[in-house]
Amino acid sequence: MNVGIIGCGAIANIIVSSIVPEDNNINISHFFDKDIERAENLASFADGVAVLDFEDMLDDVDLVLECASPDSVKNFAPLILKQGCDMLIMSIGAFMDKQFYTQVLNIAKENNAKIHLPSGAIVGLDGIKAVAKFGLKEVTLVTRKSPKSLGKNIDAEEVLFEGKASEAVKEFPLNINVAATISMACNRDIDVKIIVDPKVDRNVHEITAKGDFGEFKTTTMNYPCAANPKTSMLAALSAIRLLKSFNETISVGM
Ligand SMILES: NC(=O)c1ccc[n+]([C@@H]2O[C@H](COP(=O)([O-])OP(=O)(O)OC[C@H]3O[C@@H](n4cnc5c(N)ncnc54)[C@H](O)[C@@H]3O)[C@@H](O)[C@H]2O)c1
Repeated sequence: MNVGIIGCGAIANIIVSSIVPEDNNINISHFFDKDIERAENLASFADGVAVLDFEDMLDDVDLVLECASPDSVKNFAPLILKQGCDMLIMSIGAFMDKQFYTQVLNIAKENNAKIHLPSGAIVGLDGIKAVAKFGLKEVTLVTRKSPKSLGKNIDAEEVLFEGKASEAVKEFPLNINVAATISMACNRDIDVKIIVDPKVDRNVHEITAKGDFGEFKTTTMNYPCAANPKTSMLAALSAIRLLKSFNETISVGM
């Protein structure tokens, strides 16, 4: 499988340095970034090709891995999917725009393209998907991050946001993709609280789900990426796992 990357920052660098072609024939070959130097650096590390326009990779790749921004998903996904290219998308917040979501879904169906969304920086999506249509009554996410991660200069704990996931992704487009992922997994606009906390050095996500099945809580305490404190290491690792799963015969815990 030939893979092209849009967005050659923290997540792309972790993925590229962790995947070798022997990994189920995954060949990450083409690189695009609005900062061409970033694309060239990663292409040179991976022995691939940096392209000046994302469309220049579409004839050569089977899947485009987006690790750039919600805006890049909105700008590029329709064209990529029209070409019948599959996508693995990290900036999942883009899909909280219902009109865009429906448009993209239709394009993918018409062109026999698949869209893959990794679990990202959280654990527990397997359970949420399992119970989503079986009496799930309540899902909440509490995210706690350091001032550095949220780009704030604050020395006491503060609730920055309390409301629906669709609003959270508008206010914090690069910080709360996990809220969109959970919402998509259970097909509802979940309740989200975002807390900035000078006492934490991790990106912490607490999910609570209640319903006819009972109740579960998960807490993920992520080390931030050195290259981008907004991003958690686990997000990149989940994309690597998803990429590797495409050619596997047995799926476990999906
Ligand atoms: N799903 C999740 O759980 C999860 C977790 C962490 C991060 N993310 C998202 O993944 C994306 C990448 O994260 P990162 O930490 O690698 O970010 P980063 O800032 O380190 O790298 C992003 C790269 O994309 C490039 N870029 C941005 N917009 C672009 C555009 N329109 N066209 C071309 N290049 C563009 C930037 O120049 C940069 O090099 C972000 O949107 C982030 O919010 C998702």
